[in-house]
Amino acid sequence: MNIIIAGATGDIGTSISNLLSKNHSLLLLYKDENKREDLARKLEGRDVSFLSIQELFANEKMVLQAFSSFTPHVFINAIGDGFYAKVEDATLDLINSSYEANFKVPFYLTQLAYKVFLKQKHGYIVFVNSVSGLEGFPYGVAYCPFKFALRGLAEVMYKEGKRYGIKVSSIYPGIVKTKLLNKMPFIPKKGVLYPDEVARAVDYLLCLPLEAEVKELVLKNSSLTWRNIR
Ligand SMILES: NC(=O)c1ccc[n+]([C@@H]2O[C@H](COP(=O)([O-])OP(=O)(O)OC[C@H]3O[C@@H](n4cnc5c(N)ncnc54)[C@H](OP(=O)(O)O)[C@@H]3O)[C@@H](O)[C@H]2O)c1
Repeated sequence: MNIIIAGATGDIGTSISNLLSKNHSLLLLYKDENKREDLARKLEGRDVSFLSIQELFANEKMVLQAFSSFTPHVFINAIGDGFYAKVEDATLDLINSSYEANFKVPFYLTQLAYKVFLKQKHGYIVFVNSVSGLEGFPYGVAYCPFKFALRGLAEVMYKEGKRYGIKVSSIYPGIVKTKLLNKMPFIPKKGVLYPDEVARAVDYLLCLPLEAEVKELVLKNSSLTWRNIR
């Protein structure tokens, strides 16, 4: 299959790219040239190409054209970032930054993929969301609301897309060992998931037969313990 991965340079995105590039053709989206080079080295010899989303909003036509000519079967969003504060401390700047990374950019890119899928009359969108899109957590005032919004977007795309042959699924991982943990106010002690487990969950969804559908896959930590507050 032809698969577009947004957030491919992230820790979860890299694991997904590594696993899926064994059997599929990938178009990997990136912002940072150094990270693109690192990822290209890791995936050397695989069927991957890259697309810059550095000036995303100024380059809609170019990105849409690149998506369309790739004739994708699947679009995966693994973009997002951690922004944490207590309710009383969250600034509007923090809220805006989180909105951009956790909703606005994922929405915009997924909408472009959706437009291509509409024309093709088939396509599969997979959101890497978070358990923070299902539950609120302390210090999550700038993070959880946009993950909830991403779930809302997935619901709408699922309902509107069904009649056009567009499938939509969301994966809700718990705490995953990535660089995002360095930003969290709490430090997990035991029981974290690893990016490869999220990648395997994505692969599982893609291997399902047409007749089967997993709309939401919650990949919880079975026994997470926290060290202390930073
Ligand atoms: N780690 C966890 O515990 C956990 C748990 C559940 C869900 N998640 C979600 O999983 C996704 C991947 O997270 P991760 O842990 O792999 O973190 P990560 O390593 O920091 O990866 C985040 C990815 O998002 C991209 N990104 C961030 N802000 C962006 C923006 N404004 N515009 C375009 N791209 C942007 C990053 O690009 P660069 O590489 O250029 O920085 C990177 O590719 C996120 O949505 C995160 O919320 C993480």
